[in-house]
Amino acid sequence: MRVANRKRVLVTGLAGFLGSHLCERLLKDGCDVLCVDNFYSGTKDNVTHLMGNPHFELLRHDVTFPLYVEVDEIYSLACPASPIHYQWDPVQTTKTSVHGAINMLGLAKRVKAKILQASTSEVYGDPEMHPQRENYWGHVNPIGLRSCYDEGKRCAETLFFDYHRQHKLRIKVARIFNTYGPRMHPNDGRVVSNFIVQALKGEPITIYGDGSQTRSFCYVDDMIEAFVRLMGSSDDFTGPVNVGNPGEFTIRELAETVIELSGSKSELQLHPLPSDDPRQRQPDISLARGALDWEPTTSLREGLVRTIAYFKQL
Ligand SMILES: NC(=O)c1ccc[n+]([C@@H]2O[C@H](COP(=O)([O-])OP(=O)(O)OC[C@H]3O[C@@H](n4cnc5c(N)ncnc54)[C@H](O)[C@@H]3O)[C@@H](O)[C@H]2O)c1
Repeated sequence: MRVANRKRVLVTGLAGFLGSHLCERLLKDGCDVLCVDNFYSGTKDNVTHLMGNPHFELLRHDVTFPLYVEVDEIYSLACPASPIHYQWDPVQTTKTSVHGAINMLGLAKRVKAKILQASTSEVYGDPEMHPQRENYWGHVNPIGLRSCYDEGKRCAETLFFDYHRQHKLRIKVARIFNTYGPRMHPNDGRVVSNFIVQALKGEPITIYGDGSQTRSFCYVDDMIEAFVRLMGSSDDFTGPVNVGNPGEFTIRELAETVIELSGSKSELQLHPLPSDDPRQRQPDISLARGALDWEPTTSLREGLVRTIAYFKQL
């Protein structure tokens, strides 16, 4: 029996980078937060500071198995996000996306909860269209090393929309572009954390290719704001909606900025490009601007300063 009017929110993948920030935000907003994680790529260290909070509950659970809980909203974030993590056990990665989606959608159907999927810009693959809009169907290799992640996420989107059409489920699909900030895993090979760790250790900064490929980088606080606004949007707005920072930087520019802001003496070192690495990745966020009244407000330099400070104390 419910005694309080607090919204009960389930977050999967809370021990990871984005999940831990989302939980903090939901607790601040007065929600009762139930979290599940199997600690595949996340760590309890990311959430120990929340442990004493009576409105926070943590459950060790693998989303590839069904879960029976009573909640009002579900944020489905569980999935390793960096190539090093998701390629380490690719079959489990696809299972996490696909079985995980089926289990969470089944739960949402049973308890009539609203559900948000953390999808990814990787559903666009190596895009032939720049910047990418939501109506672009993508250019994805179905059998490559990245496919376990890309195709898993594409299939999860399909499941979300079929549950919406078939069972009238209230769904929200966010296509997340590169996000960075404190609590990224220091060794997961993602470009921002890689560069910062190398710069702080005074090691050479490894650039794949000639560094002219571009990426856009969104600071984590901006991303969490987008999640909360999307979940709160009207039921007829399902997405998919691009969320990310449209500011475009070359990998070389990123490396040089990290070196400057961390006061490092590291030098750049060029390596061959890995397979299926996209040349350019930039979100078109006009839909998010219009439907969610959202756009990122943290500049790359500002976000990097905060992220470098985190890695320094780590
Ligand atoms: N960070 C980004 O730039 C980015 C970009 C696009 C999409 N996303 C998506 O956002 C979500 C969160 O990403 P992140 O950067 O925080 O990644 P992360 O690896 O830091 O966190 C993912 C969390 O999911 C947990 N997890 C993995 N498999 C699980 C399973 N089977 N059952 C339960 N928990 C499981 C991990 O232990 C980890 O705590 C992911 O779904 C990812 O695909 C992130």
